[in-house]
Amino acid sequence: MYDKSEAAFAAAKRVMPGGVNSPVRAFKAVGGTPFFASHGEGPYLYDIDGHRYVDYLLSWGPLIWGHAHPEIVAAVESAARRGTSFGVPTELETRMAEKVTQLMPSIEVVRMVNSGTEATMSALRLARAYTSRDCIVKFEGGYHGHADSLLVKAGSGVATFGLPNSPGVPRTTAETTLTLPYNDAEAVRALFARRGEDIAAVIVEPVAGNMGCILPEPGFLKTLREVTQAYGALLIFDEVMTGFRVALGGAQARFGITPDLTTLGKVIGAGLPVGAYGGRRDIMALVAPDGPMYQAGTLSGNPLAMAAGLRSLEMLEEAGPALYERLEAFGRRIVAAFTAAGQRRGVPVYGHAIGGMFGLFFREGPVRSFAEASSADAGRYARFFHAMLQNGVSLAPSQLEAGFLSAVHTERELALTEEAIERAMAAVV
Ligand SMILES: Cc1ncc(COP(=O)(O)O)c(C=O)c1O
Repeated sequence: MYDKSEAAFAAAKRVMPGGVNSPVRAFKAVGGTPFFASHGEGPYLYDIDGHRYVDYLLSWGPLIWGHAHPEIVAAVESAARRGTSFGVPTELETRMAEKVTQLMPSIEVVRMVNSGTEATMSALRLARAYTSRDCIVKFEGGYHGHADSLLVKAGSGVATFGLPNSPGVPRTTAETTLTLPYNDAEAVRALFARRGEDIAAVIVEPVAGNMGCILPEPGFLKTLREVTQAYGALLIFDEVMTGFRVALGGAQARFGITPDLTTLGKVIGAGLPVGAYGGRRDIMALVAPDGPMYQAGTLSGNPLAMAAGLRSLEMLEEAGPALYERLEAFGRRIVAAFTAAGQRRGVPVYGHAIGGMFGLFFREGPVRSFAEASSADAGRYARFFHAMLQNGVSLAPSQLEAGFLSAVHTERELALTEEAIERAMAAVV
């Protein structure tokens, strides 16, 4: 049934670590052979063995317009015909920066990069440069890309692989990263009372998406804002996943909290490699060539990526808040189908949905932290995941990841998903 994918994976493993270019693609958390993509169309992903899936992985979040949206394909085609990269400025980059500063409440000035990892790595360097302090605070289970400082108690693939701290990260670097449990405002206050003068920044996923999807408890983000301000540290919202996904203005618009710096990725590139970091003008003034903090990129602001991302953001703006309401209603119905199916069969289940993100857990609620998320039944999720694939639905290949929705998923796909959940739940009892 998966003959072609199995052969493709065997060939890939001979020449690539684990047969993949990013670890989570190897299906380690759920077992089995990863299927190889052939192509995508709207809400559907097709594999090389000819199966079709309703896709909730959506390339790990970027594809809020689904696969191969005609408008985005047209934008990329037209940009490619004019040249793929120039190494000198283009007006397209300014248009993208204008759009981002207009849509993201806290961003006055923005720098484009090529990935979320580059964005968070650069934002940390900037926070350290601005404050002349070395330490940063992150939350257990928060994944912010694979820069050295951030590979400490990271969620997502790092957690899946049980690598609390990757070898290769210098001890002295890891020591400057202080970690706290997500949603624990008291722990934040206590840490700042002890180490506040050493802390350059707190970096947080304002909705956590790399330990499943976990919502911030009421007041948690506000505490981060107040405490960082009181101690002269910066607050960095890592909106690589949540930006343009939980609301047009990201989680910062949705929760009404203004961070000093914001990192972006995924949706901003509509499936092409893009990241960005930005924020207050006086902080961004430190970035070269305006200031001394060095950060650069041969392909940063690449015209294909800018064309795709800009068109995607324009379409989101045209769709307006109604789109996010629709996505959230859709996510809630998936969570409701999951919890109802679990309850009917006596399987402990819980879930969250916000904007175009959702999370499904095989345990009782609430799920507020990495400790709670990682105590959910991983074996049961693995069986559920494979049963969903067999029923034509592609979820993230780990319970410690979020699910994603697109603007082109319709009632038809929802009905297919609800049926698949019903059947898959029967398979995991
Ligand atoms: C919140 C968050 N920050 C940063 C990153 C890193 O982005 P990238 O994989 O583009 O380097 C991710 C990737 O999943 C993410 O979810």
